Amino acid sequence: MRVVIQDNYEKMCQWAAAYIAEKINNHKEDRPFVLGLPTGSSPIGVYKELIRKNQAGELSFANVVTFNMDEYLGLPREHDQSYWYFMHDTFFDHLKDMKPENINILNGMTDDPEGECARYEEKIASYGGIDLFMGGIGVDGHLAFNEPYTSLSSRTGVRDLTTDTRIVNSRFFGNDPSKVPAKALSVGIGTVTDSREVLVLINGHNKARALAATVEGGVSQKWTCSALQMHNAAIIACDEEACGELTVDTYKYFLDIERKERL
Ligand code: GLP
Repeated sequence: MRVVIQDNYEKMCQWAAAYIAEKINNHKEDRPFVLGLPTGSSPIGVYKELIRKNQAGELSFANVVTFNMDEYLGLPREHDQSYWYFMHDTFFDHLKDMKPENINILNGMTDDPEGECARYEEKIASYGGIDLFMGGIGVDGHLAFNEPYTSLSSRTGVRDLTTDTRIVNSRFFGNDPSKVPAKALSVGIGTVTDSREVLVLINGHNKARALAATVEGGVSQKWTCSALQMHNAAIIACDEEACGELTVDTYKYFLDIERKERL
């Protein structure tokens, strides 16, 4: 696992966007580049920078297929807190050449959730898998909506959200946890770790415990993000604030070995 530490959130996002853009631009195979994408506040700065590059003509999405990580069950697309709405409002609507048919987001209004999830896995497989999955994590270390104790080999499926997660996400629902849907559709940990590369953004003081668990803890279903330790090409991009719970030797090790990446 690589851990790339930047001074602050802006630099973390700038670095992550540059990394993603380079991967897309260097993709020379005769098939689309398949990109996994998250929602949440963490990736917003990355999306802004990718949009800037796209509008400046430095990066094309014409040959990119995207798969989003998750979606609330029971929220229609038009709901301003649906992840479909978030992704279009924050990212897709601002790209010059993203093809709508190349955007894949789980349908939270499906009347067949299990079938919807099985079809999602099949569609990912039909493209030959995901080249790069960008992710964020919750304060409890959840990756996508894979809450603590979700199997580390889980596939796309229906997830119950913990009270903790509903409280954290209630900031977008008028600070009322009961308004946050209790279930979601989510890619599994196995779906994410099957990707050729995984890039996870971890920023801010409130993610410090989760970062330490991801990097230094044992691989454990309690911190589902720790499954990334078993991945062959996983990168954590983080800011200084999130490093508060790392041991000094770990922190210094990554600062040293990744010093060329520091912006
Ligand atoms: C939600 C999403 C996750 C996301 C997490 C962190 O729970 N389902 O995919 O990673 O929030 O969000 P934020 O980046 O806002 O901290």
